[in-house]
Amino acid sequence: MNKRSGKTVGAKVRRRTQSQLPHGHSPSALFLVGFMGAGKTSVGQTLAEHLNWAFEDLDRRIERREGRTVPEIFRDFGESEFRRAEHGALREVLEEVHGGAVKIVALGGGAFVQENNMALLKASGIPTVFLDAPVDELWRRCCQQTGTAETERPLLRSIDRFRELYAARRGSYLRASSKIQTGSRTLNEIAAEIAETLGLRKIEIRAQQGEVE
Ligand code: S3P
Repeated sequence: MNKRSGKTVGAKVRRRTQSQLPHGHSPSALFLVGFMGAGKTSVGQTLAEHLNWAFEDLDRRIERREGRTVPEIFRDFGESEFRRAEHGALREVLEEVHGGAVKIVALGGGAFVQENNMALLKASGIPTVFLDAPVDELWRRCCQQTGTAETERPLLRSIDRFRELYAARRGSYLRASSKIQTGSRTLNEIAAEIAETLGLRKIEIRAQQGEVE
């Protein structure tokens, strides 16, 4: 699926040159926020492929740093410890972005709701995009995804609890710098709208002289 270089043996070696990076007032990083099932990871991956930017899911960084999966952190240490780990991971990724990393980051559903994370993100000036959809569609998507380790969600309980949590969090999500509706839309449509709304620039990747094969 991902056709970027470096994935297969014999692929062309390609490098980004400075002139190919986004410049001027165009953003060079982006955080996707929203509730569970909003499509933060799949939209982020699609958009990253369109732009030739890097993509990362903050939950995967937390897991690498902690040496445990998200459900294990919840189970063994509780949600407050997970939030501490999440904040640490966010600080780390922000440092990388300030250092020049060009990337799209999908945050976990609770990350932007935590005041300390929201304050960090607002202070950074990096755009935050709230992906929204009707709550019943979010629930349906989450139920369809359950079964794989990466989509096991400790906070996915009953539909009533899901609705309550969404209602409690929506006001925070609305503090993101943009909002995009994802209900009944394809990943390509959503990615294109984000790129256009924010004026995101694609990195043109060309094989550099002497670096082929
Ligand atoms: C959470 C959402 C999860 C994950 C953790 C907590 C939340 O991420 O960070 O289970 O508080 O809503 P997704 O939104 O990617 O499911």
